[in-house]
Amino acid sequence: MRKPVIAGNWKMYKLLGEAVDTALTLKPLVANANHCEVVIAPVFTALKSVADRVEGSNIRVSAQNCSTEAKHGAQTGEVAADMLRDVGCSHVIVGHSERRQFYGETDATVNLKTKAVIQTGLTAIVCVGEKLSERESGNAESVVKTQLKGSLDGLTVADMERIIIAYEPVWAIGTGKTATPEQAQEMHGVIRRSLAESHGRDVAEATRVLYGGSVKPDNIRSLMDQPDVDGALVGGASLDAESFAQIVNYKV
Ligand code: PGA
Repeated sequence: MRKPVIAGNWKMYKLLGEAVDTALTLKPLVANANHCEVVIAPVFTALKSVADRVEGSNIRVSAQNCSTEAKHGAQTGEVAADMLRDVGCSHVIVGHSERRQFYGETDATVNLKTKAVIQTGLTAIVCVGEKLSERESGNAESVVKTQLKGSLDGLTVADMERIIIAYEPVWAIGTGKTATPEQAQEMHGVIRRSLAESHGRDVAEATRVLYGGSVKPDNIRSLMDQPDVDGALVGGASLDAESFAQIVNYKV
């Protein structure tokens, strides 16, 4: 059985104090959520403080990005995965569409970052997803498969234990337009079949595939009802502790 993951991506929204406040408010609200793993992803500067505050709870902390290089690189301005582990992170979001779109990340970059995360012993939340034009031209499937193959290139079966996939159609991110549960299920099925081809059936069956794109308290349940939807990567609705807690507690 795949344990669901509900992850909140706080993007570049919260100052340190706001991030700590949200984490502290969230902690008791999700304390009984044993049905899923709860992850929050604050901005770099808040990671250590947030990780310290949620230590010992069921909340895990994720970074939103990391360097392709390990510590000791001459890489001004970058943050290595081992540094993220050092401040209490267990996860790193890699290849979010905003990074692909605004910072030129390619599948090759995402692949290097994913490997850097795994080598450090952290879990990578690898994001894939098509743009609206790609969906409208009928290429959504091939775009997602290509991203997936490129991002996971060279990973072994053992490496895949540290991989979570997030399917985030770009047209659904921050737009209020959620993919229908059927659209999500269809692409999650494609992703699982593609994982079976690349890494075998066992890996495909064990890998959590999250949906992201305008997930809210009122649509989480119908998404989670889909057999291949194993959780959510939540942006806007994760910024408020109460609304994120409602999503985490979709089952309760
Ligand atoms: P959204 O963002 O929930 O605000 O659409 C999701 C994401 O970008 O991960």
